[in-house]
Amino acid sequence: MQNKIQRLLKEVETLAAKSVQEAEEIRVQWLGKKGVVTVLFDEFKNLSAAEKRVLGQALNALKTAAQEKIAALREVTEQAPGSVSGDCTPPGIPHPFGARHPIAMVRNEIIGIFKRSGYTLAEGPEIEDDWHVFSALNFPPEHPARDMQDTFFIRQGDNAVLLRTHTSSVQVRKMETQQPPVRVICPGRVFRNEAISARAHCIFHQVEGLYIDENVSFADLKQAILYFAQELFGADTKIRLRPSYFPFTEPSAEVDVSCNICGGKGCNICKGTGWLEIMGCGMVDPNVLEANHIDSGKYTGFAFGMGIERIAMLKWQVRDLRLYFENDVRFLQQFATAL
Ligand code: PHE
Repeated sequence: MQNKIQRLLKEVETLAAKSVQEAEEIRVQWLGKKGVVTVLFDEFKNLSAAEKRVLGQALNALKTAAQEKIAALREVTEQAPGSVSGDCTPPGIPHPFGARHPIAMVRNEIIGIFKRSGYTLAEGPEIEDDWHVFSALNFPPEHPARDMQDTFFIRQGDNAVLLRTHTSSVQVRKMETQQPPVRVICPGRVFRNEAISARAHCIFHQVEGLYIDENVSFADLKQAILYFAQELFGADTKIRLRPSYFPFTEPSAEVDVSCNICGGKGCNICKGTGWLEIMGCGMVDPNVLEANHIDSGKYTGFAFGMGIERIAMLKWQVRDLRLYFENDVRFLQQFATAL
């Protein structure tokens, strides 16, 4: 047997294959169930202990040599040009990466800033009643917002059903269910009966905020907005408050931030003024607190509200609001790595 093993060892070295198939045939011939090496191992079992001791090592060496040689033959033939082994299926069609929608990115950024300053998130229905959108917010009965010209009504009359025109309705729902301190932000979609243009749309997104507690002052409001503006537009950002009017706040103001494009010098984005309007705000009108069963002698609060599209337009200098709604991937893809 010893001689046979030596002879086979030499033979292993001379093995050659031209194709994967030939390499496989050699494997069967040598290592298969009835292959030469396997048969030798069968014979080995019947040898005496003394013979086993002598031949065991040699036989194992033959097996290893055959395995290595055949593995090498297989590798070489698989790589050979024209080889039909391996994965012959055509490569798949790659799925391009999607991108977050710019409105969602800005919304998340705004929410993040307020969450870091202790606000919680509240959401509410898009289909609302008159009470939550208007009456609880001190809108007089003859206010033009209650007109079909401005609001989408699903049903008019005493039990009016309508699409919310601002997310202040969510703040009302919050006040109904929670006594102060209240500190919430309300992001969401809102609807207004407006002609669609580069600067206005009938659907847009808002983030509104409400803070009610004892001793909340206008100075607190100003500081909260300054912090927000500097987080969003950069540490050098300045703010300016101009007197304004909303039925639900008194006093009320519009907030401008210094133009982050020209640094306040004046450019065509800020129309030469150096300022950009970003939101409305004010101290919650005591009538609103009372309508929601909050003691206006004990508590005061501030509220603010902004349009996300407007802020996104300023952030990326997008000149037409409609682009946010058209789902043109050529537009949306530009924001793939924006945040
Ligand atoms: N609700 C107002 C709007 O939709 C924004 C606002 C909220 C103004 C809170 C003042 C205070 O325009």
